[in-house]
Amino acid sequence: MRKVGIIGVGEYLPKKILTNQRLEKMVDTSDEWITTRTGIKERRLAAKNEATSDLAIQAARRAIKDARLKPQDIDLVIVATITPDSAFPSVACILQDALGIKNAACFDVSAACAGFVYAITIAQQFIACGSYKKALVVGAEVLSSVTDWKDRNTCVLFGDGAGAAVLAQVKSGGILATYLNSDGSKKELLMIYAGGSRMPISRKTLTNRLHYIKMQGNELFKLAVTLMAEVAQTVLKRAGLECKDIDLVIPHQANVRIIMAMAKKLGLPREKIYLNIEKYGNMSSASTATALVEAVKKGRIKKGDIVLLDAFGAGLVWGGCVIKW
Ligand code: COA
Repeated sequence: MRKVGIIGVGEYLPKKILTNQRLEKMVDTSDEWITTRTGIKERRLAAKNEATSDLAIQAARRAIKDARLKPQDIDLVIVATITPDSAFPSVACILQDALGIKNAACFDVSAACAGFVYAITIAQQFIACGSYKKALVVGAEVLSSVTDWKDRNTCVLFGDGAGAAVLAQVKSGGILATYLNSDGSKKELLMIYAGGSRMPISRKTLTNRLHYIKMQGNELFKLAVTLMAEVAQTVLKRAGLECKDIDLVIPHQANVRIIMAMAKKLGLPREKIYLNIEKYGNMSSASTATALVEAVKKGRIKKGDIVLLDAFGAGLVWGGCVIKW
């Protein structure tokens, strides 16, 4: 099997900033509550004319450039998203057309907040076994389109953004181990009920606001801490490493308290955890993606570093990757 690594990264965050202070005027909440309960200070919102593919295109362009490749070099495009432009075609196909990529397999992956980790793992397998050579993997979301701006339990949490990575065969290092898992029996803890084949949009679903995210935050909180710690332990074991070997953890950014509770369980110090939740909130698949891109661009990840991607989300799904940079 070939060694596979990340050879380029790029991100795109919409310009519009929604602060906690602004949210105080929209729902019964406070900057103090949001900051202490979640760690979020502000989030980005896509413009009215920006769909998920628009964000993905910008992030992908930057990642391909960073990898010193041309769009024509890409032969596999995977977009992790739960907010596609429409049910079909896939965002990956829209991206392919916009970037002028020819002769590539293109598809979307639905694994919510663990989507980027799932997509990286899929791309790694395809390249490792020789089916494809250069994969573009994107985590992109416009969660503001499925957020109930009247529900204070959820609307303070989410944001929009996109992060991308290009994967290819590498001579040394690269992805050392991956781990994916899921538990569909807990699907109702976080879901959008209407808008699919089970419950097509109707006047009734609109009145009952069933086309927006519904979440049981408390229950998810506890599971997230346990499962994200389990991800770290399992994937590190697969890589033949221990927690002390990690240079930086890129966790899914749902709540700073979840992340720090997980770190405590694993005995990881604060400086080994990369956080960007304060600026962007929870962007589902785009959270781990943009955090990885930022950490690379800021020099927090250096050649030879051991990096752990660790994510958890609706499904439930969870997973991780250990990468030697
Ligand atoms: N502003 C002010 N008060 C709020 C609020 C808001 N935005 N949202 C909820 N509250 C209130 C609740 O109504 C509740 O009031 P009550 O005690 O009078 O009933 C109180 O704050 C505490 O609510 P609770 O749900 O217990 O808070 P919490 O500490 O669990 O924090 C979350 C809520 C959502 C931040 C937290 O549970 C969480 O992050 N869960 C996991 C989310 C997650 O992982 N989601 C996606 C997976 S990727």
